[in-house]
Amino acid sequence: MANILVTGGAGYIGSHTCVELLNAGHSVVVFDNLSNSSEEALVRVQALTAKSLIFVEGDIRDANALDQVFAAHQIDAVIHFAGLKAVGESQQIPLVYFDNNIAGSISLVQAMQRANVFNLVFSSSATVYDEANISPLNEDMPTGMPSNNYGYTKLIVEQMLQKLAIADARWSIALLRYFNPVGAHKSGRIGEDPQGIPNNLMPYVTQVAVGRREKLSIFGQDYDTVDGTGVRDYIHVVDLANAHLCALNNRLEAAGCRAWNIGTGNGSSVLEVKNTFEQVNGVAVAFEFAPRREGDVATSFADNARAIAELGWKPQYTLEDMLADSWNWQKQNPEGYKK
Ligand code: NAD
Ligand code: WQD
Repeated sequence: MANILVTGGAGYIGSHTCVELLNAGHSVVVFDNLSNSSEEALVRVQALTAKSLIFVEGDIRDANALDQVFAAHQIDAVIHFAGLKAVGESQQIPLVYFDNNIAGSISLVQAMQRANVFNLVFSSSATVYDEANISPLNEDMPTGMPSNNYGYTKLIVEQMLQKLAIADARWSIALLRYFNPVGAHKSGRIGEDPQGIPNNLMPYVTQVAVGRREKLSIFGQDYDTVDGTGVRDYIHVVDLANAHLCALNNRLEAAGCRAWNIGTGNGSSVLEVKNTFEQVNGVAVAFEFAPRREGDVATSFADNARAIAELGWKPQYTLEDMLADSWNWQKQNPEGYKK
């Protein structure tokens, strides 16, 4: 069993990963500045698992704070979720994104190097792929220049980590390219709790269903897809969390830097998601069609064969499970962690 530092561990994907890490018997130190999360998530993680973790409130750009964490705990590996992720906001305040995501990641790997910790799992994104690639996207396809600053930070950090592993063979780095994480822990005690108006489809749908928003705007109905709406690869957050445990095992045994897609390999359209959500949960989701959203592609889904073959990982949950679990979380926590 290993001692894992989880940056951004109070967030949506981080909190679910902490549950799986603790259930698997690992020790967990969460390092998070709570800029987009609540400590309540960690209280619930510990209640769900009946295990404790260590929480350190801090910013990954703070070298002294990181040094203290590495000095106080014998860390074997780091899972690095900390960062900002709102695509639209990244266009308004690019420097804040470059600082948190790029400078923050540099600060983290510098601290790791000072502490002689060289195993890292990094949260990357399918957004790094060149938009000209045709789905299913595989890891050998070229990356592109993401159309937004958020995606740009993911690409830069990926490239930086690749170069670092080439220069210094002590590093062992997994780049996990997430497709579209949705769903929540079965208990409904932890889930996605976006601040303000949700940018992503799933929390928007659940907030309409729970009465917090009037109706969903479906961005575009004239794409070259099954029903004209955008197609994405939705992946249950618990499957995604488990991919980190698989990557961790892989990285504790191998050197170098390697990318893996984490998706189900299935594409679902926006209308399919909305309609299936209504059927599975027996609730209505009011909607209207709206113009396409700038920067969106028609279709994006994964070829996940590499993760299945090399990581021993396999997604377990269906779209129905994802939509039932998202709703279970939202209806139990209409205002997220606030109440
Ligand atoms: P999230 O916002 O819920 O979690 C990120 C966490 O990092 C938050 O708890 C936040 O408080 C913390 N954080 C932010 N900046 C920090 C800093 N400078 N120092 C310390 N902590 C900081 O987001 P999430 O959905 O859980 O995403 C986790 C990671 O996965 C992010 O890196 C994100 O870019 C990446 N990712 C997310 C998606 C998605 O759709 N959710 C898709 C692909 C990649
Ligand atoms: C999914 C589909 C929209 C909202 C983004 C980031 C990516 C990654 C995951 C991470 C699209 C449509 C959405 C709405 C809609 N990020 N939609 N109405 O754009 O695939 O990926 O999140 O940190 O980097 O770009 O996800 O959930 O925003 O959209 O019709 O109100 O739903 O057009 O087809 P996307 P999404």
